[in-house]
Amino acid sequence: MTATTPLIDPHETQAQIKRLARRISRDYQGRNLVCIGVLKGAFIFMADLVREITLPLEIDFVGASSYGAGTDSSGSIKLTKEISVDLQDKDVLLVEDIVDTGLTLEHLVAYMESFAPRSVKICALIDKHQRRKTDVRVAYACHVVEEGFLVGYGLDHNEFYRNLPGICRLDP
Ligand code: IMP
Ligand code: MG
Repeated sequence: MTATTPLIDPHETQAQIKRLARRISRDYQGRNLVCIGVLKGAFIFMADLVREITLPLEIDFVGASSYGAGTDSSGSIKLTKEISVDLQDKDVLLVEDIVDTGLTLEHLVAYMESFAPRSVKICALIDKHQRRKTDVRVAYACHVVEEGFLVGYGLDHNEFYRNLPGICRLDP
C-alpha cells in the first residue's frame, strides 16, 4: 500500500455538500429530479448529498469504469451497470466522484441523453482541472483541485482506499 497525505478535512467536505444541496434544492424546485450516482467512486458522496437535498427525488446508479490498475486514464469507458429508471422528461443530475479528463462524463452524458431526459447536469465531488480533454460543464463541484491522484471518501487506487473518511493525496 502506498502512503497517503490528508488533503481535505472531512468537515469541509460535509460543509460543502450542505451548500451544494441547498443550491440544488433551489434550482430543481418543481422539477422531476433523478440523481444518478456513478459507481463505484460516487457511492459515499451520493449518500451524503441526497440526504441534504430537500426535494422529492428518484435515485439510480450507473456503472462506469475507465481506469485500469494505474493512475492514468485508459481513454476507453466500459459501462458496467445500465440505468433502471425511466428518464424521459426528467431532470438528471449525474453524481460523480471526480472529473479528470472528462472522457467518462462525456460518454455518460451522451448515454443519458439517449433516454430523452429534460436536462442532464453534472455534480462532482472533485473537479480536477489539469488533464481536462473535453468541454464537459460541471454545474456543481464540491472541491476544485488542480492536480494529483486522490483517494478516500469513495475514491480508489486499484480498488483500495475507498473507505478512508477524508479525501487524501496518494503519495508519489
Ligand atoms: P476521466 O474520464 O478522466 O474524467 O476520469 C474519471 C474517472 O477516473 C473517475 O470517475 C475516477 O473513477 C477516476 N479518477 C480520475 N482521477 C482520479 C483520482 O485522482 N483518484 C481516483 N480516481 C480518479
Ligand atoms: Mg475509479
